[in-house]
Amino acid sequence: MKAPKPRDVLTGRTLDMRLRATAATVLTALVLLAAGCARSDHSVLSPAGPAARRLADLGWPVLLLFLGVSAAMWILIPWAALRRRGTLDEHSPIDAGGGLTWVWIGGLVIPAVVLGAVLVVTLRTLASFPVHGDHPDSALRIRVVGHQWWWEVQYMAGDPRGPVTTANEIHVPAGRPVELELVSNDVIHSFWVPALHGKLDLLPGEVNRLRLQADRPGVYRGQCAEFCGLQHANMKIVVFADSDEDFRAWLARERGPARVTTTAEAQQGEQLFTSGRCGGCHTVRGSPALGQLGPDLTHVASRQTIAAGALPNDTADLAAWITHAQSLKPGGLMPDLPQFTGKELRALVAYLQQLR
Ligand code: CUA
Repeated sequence: MKAPKPRDVLTGRTLDMRLRATAATVLTALVLLAAGCARSDHSVLSPAGPAARRLADLGWPVLLLFLGVSAAMWILIPWAALRRRGTLDEHSPIDAGGGLTWVWIGGLVIPAVVLGAVLVVTLRTLASFPVHGDHPDSALRIRVVGHQWWWEVQYMAGDPRGPVTTANEIHVPAGRPVELELVSNDVIHSFWVPALHGKLDLLPGEVNRLRLQADRPGVYRGQCAEFCGLQHANMKIVVFADSDEDFRAWLARERGPARVTTTAEAQQGEQLFTSGRCGGCHTVRGSPALGQLGPDLTHVASRQTIAAGALPNDTADLAAWITHAQSLKPGGLMPDLPQFTGKELRALVAYLQQLR
């Protein structure tokens, strides 16, 4: 009769069962990891500007090096474990002195060489990024202010009328460097548009600078990358790289005041917006609404999303956001306004939708 295989005291599983379970776990993890490698407009694997490319040129060799080291360890550890079984008691290689050399080589020399090389290439990449003072005066300056949980975007180009303010979407001219000044209004946030640049924190009371450049016109998605409270995940940012001509036209449009309302419904909406609570928090330039707490809505209809990417900018979602913001993005400053229903709610939405 065959002897039963030894089983683990706690789980009752044999060695075969444990090996199969481990292999299944590792395979599942690899499949899940690989799923994150899809090329997209929101990926470090598709660098679309000089800064992201420098980081990719550093990241790929380091990743391959670490995969090599990991593979060597995955082979050596089981090999050492199985080999030790036969020699443990009397002739342990470490006790015999011969193994000690390998402890020095494997434990100190090889890690020092590998990590030393990584340190050198990392410092070289770091040194290639512009530092404070490197920035040409002629470059377009954009101030990005982090709020819980949205992004204020101000175009600082020397205009006596002051900066052009928008929110959650940054338009830049493709192929030209743009200087971003990052600050925070409350807690620490982090600006991260992976296809264009590495992360950089937005700190209260401090200005961090970042040079952004997109090679080609396109849409590049990003996300706040520093946990900043309840709605950290709903703090998305989108960079639109436009052709020079499109960018100039966009900026000129943004600079202008809100469009004059023409339909009776939109006029009723404007009345509700400016006389009610909305104008206390939001600015619509050219109207009596001059609130500073929430995003500038002067041209809100030209944006693709609302609530920092939490919702698409369409009729149903605008209405839902006005009445149930606290269910859709709990903890944000935007209150529920259930007093707006039916005709009034439709009028408010009609007003916002013509703010192009
Ligand atoms: Cu802002 Cu996370």
